[in-house]
Amino acid sequence: MKSYKITLLRGDGIGPEIVAEAIKVLDKAGERFGFAAKYTEALMGGCAIDATGVPLPQETVDRCLSSDAVLLGAVGGWKWDTLPGNLRPEAGLLGIRGALKLFANLRPAKIYGPLKAACPLRPDIIGDSMDIMVVRELTGGIYFGKRGRETVDGVEAAYDTEYYTVPEVERIARVAFESARKRSGRLCNVDKANVLESSRLWRETVLRVAKEYPDVELTHLYIDNAAMQLVRNPKQFDVILASNIFGDILSDEASQVAGSIGMLASASLGEGKCGLYEPIHGSAPDIAGKGIANPLATILSTAMMLRYSFDEIAAADAIEAAVERVLEDGLRTPDIYTEGCKKIGTVEMGDAVVAALA
Ligand code: IPM
Ligand code: MG
Repeated sequence: MKSYKITLLRGDGIGPEIVAEAIKVLDKAGERFGFAAKYTEALMGGCAIDATGVPLPQETVDRCLSSDAVLLGAVGGWKWDTLPGNLRPEAGLLGIRGALKLFANLRPAKIYGPLKAACPLRPDIIGDSMDIMVVRELTGGIYFGKRGRETVDGVEAAYDTEYYTVPEVERIARVAFESARKRSGRLCNVDKANVLESSRLWRETVLRVAKEYPDVELTHLYIDNAAMQLVRNPKQFDVILASNIFGDILSDEASQVAGSIGMLASASLGEGKCGLYEPIHGSAPDIAGKGIANPLATILSTAMMLRYSFDEIAAADAIEAAVERVLEDGLRTPDIYTEGCKKIGTVEMGDAVVAALA
């Protein structure tokens, strides 16, 4: 039987609760489709800080590097909010993305039919559906550029640098074009080329790469306009290509248009064989331990893992279908609850997906 080595980074806050549900679903999928998931655990984020003093111990990096894929819950929490930047839980997340060279972040945002009522936009704006793929650059830009603090003439200041090389833009652009090719053939590049030099280089590079993809229809929007268009007329978008910071912002916005940030999965892929899969939401410390977190984004992340890392397409489709089924049956965690549905908790939601999968 095929077997996949998966490192679990349960993380902080609701992380452990939602990862537990995702594992149940993954195991059930393995049972049905003939593969075994072998898990190993590692620490990252606040839990790693508490246990080892740093957010990303070398042992965690090594473990991830020697596995086939990584499943991450979420990191962060109030407890660690006052630590210096390089010792915060988030630094662990950025560190693992860098260490695994995960430059391409795929964040699909779609409205599930039964969740239409949770979408804050008017039905005539949303229409029948919305299905967007945000392709976010993940290991460059302002997140990784030169940063610092200084005091100039007695005045304290700080800076972060948006910095991109041509090869960095080329490789993420190719991921976006390939993705558009597999979908409806439309790609919208987002930048701020009217102001930023880094965006001008970004756009020039995207235009050059576009020549390799004459079959893909390429458009461009400035980030401010893109943020507006996403709520004005989300249906115009298929694949969106964006830098690290612009993709971070747009994917949160897209998730809300889709109904809840609790529904959005993501895949981070790179040069190496090991991809990382995580919900795009955070650790939600305010609801941690209450058993009410929505595990669906993490469950859907395992579907992305099966699709992108293991080529287990049938199993991935089955998990996604099981999630739809559960939603059609009216089961809802509080974040996506609307009147007339049945409100359930994290574990019940995981059980329901497992049952629908069986
Ligand atoms: C995300 C998160 C992270 C990011 C934070 C937690 C570092 O917002 O994955 O979108 O900004 O990339
Ligand atoms: Mg974010």
